[in-house]
Amino acid sequence: MENPFKFGTIVDGKYFTDRTEEVAYIKQFIDSPNHLILISPRRFGKSSVVMRAIKQTQRQYISLNLQNITSIADFSAKLLREFFKIHPLEKVRQLITHFRIIPTLNTNAITGAIEVAFQPSSSPIDPLEDVMNLIDTASTPENRIVLILDEFQEIADISNSLPKQLRSIMQQQQNINYILLGSQESMMTEIFEKKKSPFYHFGQLMRLNKIPRNDFANYLSERLKDCCPEKFNEIAESILKYTDCHPYYTQQLAATVWQTLIMQPETEDVLPIAIQQIIDTHNLDYERLWINFNRTNKFILQRLALNLTLQAAELPTSTIYSALKNLQKKGVVIYSTHYEIEDPFFREWIAQRA
Ligand SMILES: Nc1ncnc2c1ncn2[C@@H]1O[C@H](COP(=O)(O)OP(=O)(O)O)[C@@H](O)[C@H]1O
Ligand SMILES: [Mg+2]
Repeated sequence: MENPFKFGTIVDGKYFTDRTEEVAYIKQFIDSPNHLILISPRRFGKSSVVMRAIKQTQRQYISLNLQNITSIADFSAKLLREFFKIHPLEKVRQLITHFRIIPTLNTNAITGAIEVAFQPSSSPIDPLEDVMNLIDTASTPENRIVLILDEFQEIADISNSLPKQLRSIMQQQQNINYILLGSQESMMTEIFEKKKSPFYHFGQLMRLNKIPRNDFANYLSERLKDCCPEKFNEIAESILKYTDCHPYYTQQLAATVWQTLIMQPETEDVLPIAIQQIIDTHNLDYERLWINFNRTNKFILQRLALNLTLQAAELPTSTIYSALKNLQKKGVVIYSTHYEIEDPFFREWIAQRA
């Protein structure tokens, strides 16, 4: 039997729940000449919701994660490579001969994919501008290409001058819809809300929340019904209580609960068993993560894991605050209504050792 829960990659179809309004909203954006900025912590479902909306509109899209980009030349090359996945090279070969720097193109004999490289140059922004203009030319007002840039807050990390340069290229474009995704709230608002930023008011800001409890409870119950006919509602509720409706961790815990019940149907108290199993699986990763925190961060994480207040701690408020910012930047701590450790299993791992 196939596990009815899925976590880690983009979900769709039977693994996708709720988000009807969000999908409708994103679709309406893609149908307009405006751009969308979607913010949420990691693994809340940004990629999944955007892909679902795009699939429904059947529009062509290019998607790139800035976290995997090492330089402007690399950015240009990967963008062109992705473009060739939706557009035949033959149709634009002529246009490429006009590039200021001619890229090297190689066809991978096994996958058939076109690999692209640009020679380093003294003006690395030229190839990027040429590639962006090529995409704009291939895109038409009736069928605008959607360009998704994930982890957009990394932009200035690629090169200090890139935000300004990229913005001025985008300024001249006519036919592209941009969807910019980001998982670091404070950096994203800095980029799009600060008057001095080149991306000030570039598009509409949208925040993605966790999945509503009722809907998620139905989703879980429906899929747990067969493996525990007596207690499926109760188990669904306790999973959500533990994960606080976090999309990824909920699916992860539900998948483990399901697996445990399939293998040992008579298991009495399944939740703590499944939780411990996940913690044990990640023990090495957690250890590696933990030893790299400084003492202040360790202290704060322990207080958060044990639900102890931070203010009463013996550290100055400013120290606590900057440590929290740093932990947020690393994605270890998230803030919605209060500061919390992002991964409930890591939280428990810390609490067990505190
Ligand atoms: N609409 C949804 N319904 C059910 N599970 C979801 C949904 N969106 C996300 N998830 C869960 O969260 C995981 C991460 O989703 P993803 O779209 O990759 O998030 P992000 O792009 O924000 O990091 C998925 O693998 C899935 O387990
Ligand atoms: Mg994603």
